[in-house]
Amino acid sequence: MYNIFEAPFVKEMCEITAQMYRMGWDERNGGNISCRLDPQLVSQYLDLNDVKRVLPIGFDASEAKGQIFIVTGTGRYFRNVEKAPQDNMGIFRVAPCGNEIEVLWGFEGGGRPTSELPTHLLNHIERQKVDPENRVILHCHPANTLAMTFVHELDDKAFTKTLWRMITECIVVFPEGIGVLPWMVCGTLEIGIATAKKIHDYRAVIWGQHGIFGAGRDLDEAFGLVETIEKAAEIYIKIMNTPIKQSITDKELMAVCESFHLTPHEGWLDLE
Ligand code: 13P
Ligand code: ZN
Repeated sequence: MYNIFEAPFVKEMCEITAQMYRMGWDERNGGNISCRLDPQLVSQYLDLNDVKRVLPIGFDASEAKGQIFIVTGTGRYFRNVEKAPQDNMGIFRVAPCGNEIEVLWGFEGGGRPTSELPTHLLNHIERQKVDPENRVILHCHPANTLAMTFVHELDDKAFTKTLWRMITECIVVFPEGIGVLPWMVCGTLEIGIATAKKIHDYRAVIWGQHGIFGAGRDLDEAFGLVETIEKAAEIYIKIMNTPIKQSITDKELMAVCESFHLTPHEGWLDLE
């Protein structure tokens, strides 16, 4: 058995949480990450029959039963994950009944997975229906994206089109668009269900006055998606009170898609 602290998935989680903290996206305990792991790979580092604790989760995740995830802990600071990974995150398997998880490693000192577990697991279930290779769900509170939700209409199409126009390559990174939800109480099953509905069609969902959820096949992809949205939102916040002299038209956005062989969200570009 290899040393779990040397496992690539533990090291990657340490790196990404530190990076996200440095980006200013994860103040205090803000943000959480879950990453679906290959059981074969995990079994090189952990005895999969050695269940440390069984925790009820209060909702049905049976569509993910048997799947193993590494997840950040609730109330834990991204800033500290690198220093003590075993306290600030953990690895669990969804139990056969679907409403319990079996902790295989971590969450030491009485820790528990993120309070956003409903959104994470329901998002994993939904994304895998669209892309079986999807492994990562990542949540954070980037300032410009958040600021934009105070001043912009919270409509998928309107919000996406504003972002598409902020950086030429936005439409290349998220041609399907972005989902936007109004403010809701966080950490609930309700917000998890609402987010999962949207994440079926989009890889990113913004929560009004709260933050963003991004999905991806790996941490790089999910991080890169959030990074692009946040940068576009930053440009919007910088220019929103300035008279606009020129922008990118819908026809030009379509030309970018044609050049990159991409299909933008159907019906959103006005090409008449
Ligand atoms: P957790 O500390 O429970 O992960 O919550 C942080 C957060 O961002 C809630 O939306
Ligand atoms: Zn949050």
